[in-house]
Amino acid sequence: MGSILAFPAAVLAYFARMGWVRSIALFVGGGFAFVLLYSMVGNAWTYFDSPPAPQAAEEFHKEHKHLALKSDGPFGKFDKAQLQRGLQVYTEVCSACHSLKLVSFRDLKDLGYNEAEIKAYAGSGKQWKIEVPSINPETGEATTRKALPSDNFPGPFPNETAARAANNNALPPDLSLITKSREGGAAYVYSLLTGYQNQPAELLKKFPDAKTPANLHYNPYFANLNLAMPPPLSTDGQVTYADGTKASVDQMAKDVSAFLVWTAEPNLERRHAAGFWVTIFLLFASVLAYLAYRQVWHDAKRQVVVTGALDPTNQAKTRKAKAKAGVAG
Ligand code: HEC
Repeated sequence: MGSILAFPAAVLAYFARMGWVRSIALFVGGGFAFVLLYSMVGNAWTYFDSPPAPQAAEEFHKEHKHLALKSDGPFGKFDKAQLQRGLQVYTEVCSACHSLKLVSFRDLKDLGYNEAEIKAYAGSGKQWKIEVPSINPETGEATTRKALPSDNFPGPFPNETAARAANNNALPPDLSLITKSREGGAAYVYSLLTGYQNQPAELLKKFPDAKTPANLHYNPYFANLNLAMPPPLSTDGQVTYADGTKASVDQMAKDVSAFLVWTAEPNLERRHAAGFWVTIFLLFASVLAYLAYRQVWHDAKRQVVVTGALDPTNQAKTRKAKAKAGVAG
């Protein structure tokens, strides 16, 4: 009997020596550590025992294509002719579903339009057909009026519900910042616009349940492969460019992507220019700082060079010669 109780008694004695509060803390901490360890080992076991099933969206999703634009790189500048063509594609195609609510008509002067052209563009109804929500000054009823250069681009739908109702319950996102909000930016938009294709037979063979639903469209550049947007650019010559550029699907996709880089960052050229001068300034300031450092530390870091009789090598020579000649000291 005594031997059975010996071990618990020893443990209790140990705890009593350590102090009860510390013992309880040790228990609680140990309990936490045990639970964490248990769940970690359990999860690792499940992962290796039944690995996650492969997903069609993981295996068939493609990285965006390469797109070279004049605005790329630290010295990039916008190609205004291309931005104008992109605006035309947006106006004639994308604006039917997508808003551009952070851009105002007068910003279009950056694209090389003058005031009269912008006024005509916003309010003529020929190019820009969507009107701005307004109020009838006599009756107070909701109505619309022609856009002014000071207005932002009005969207095609009065609200989200209407936008969803017109698009099979999918919401066409505002495009003002889309090239900033998607990985790959303009290259992603370009890939998406030119990436529609039939669902590969291989995919259906491997994932028979992953068939593209009826109102969606297969596009390997979209994260989940099936997109609610019908291919907006489908035929060459869908728009007629004023500058005579051939409007192939590829060209239109490039132009509108370049335009959406501008809408997301109209200050890009100014930023690039400022960055260049800031770099020059910092280089210059670094040289100045280095020279100032040399100046400040000049005395402290001065190396004393001893010559003549005090030079250690000369002293050694002297000692050696004296020893040889038998002269002391
Ligand atoms: C018929 C209406 C319609 C037109 C026209 C249209 N889109 Fe869309 N777009 C949509 C809808 C709906 C979605 C949302 C798709 C989804 O979430 O599945 C969408 C989504 C997008 C997206 C976002 C994809 C993402 O990663 O979430 C981009 C970019 C886009 N459209 C660009 C364009 C461009 C550029 C044009 C003009 C060339 C255009 N769209 C024309 C309806 C349209």
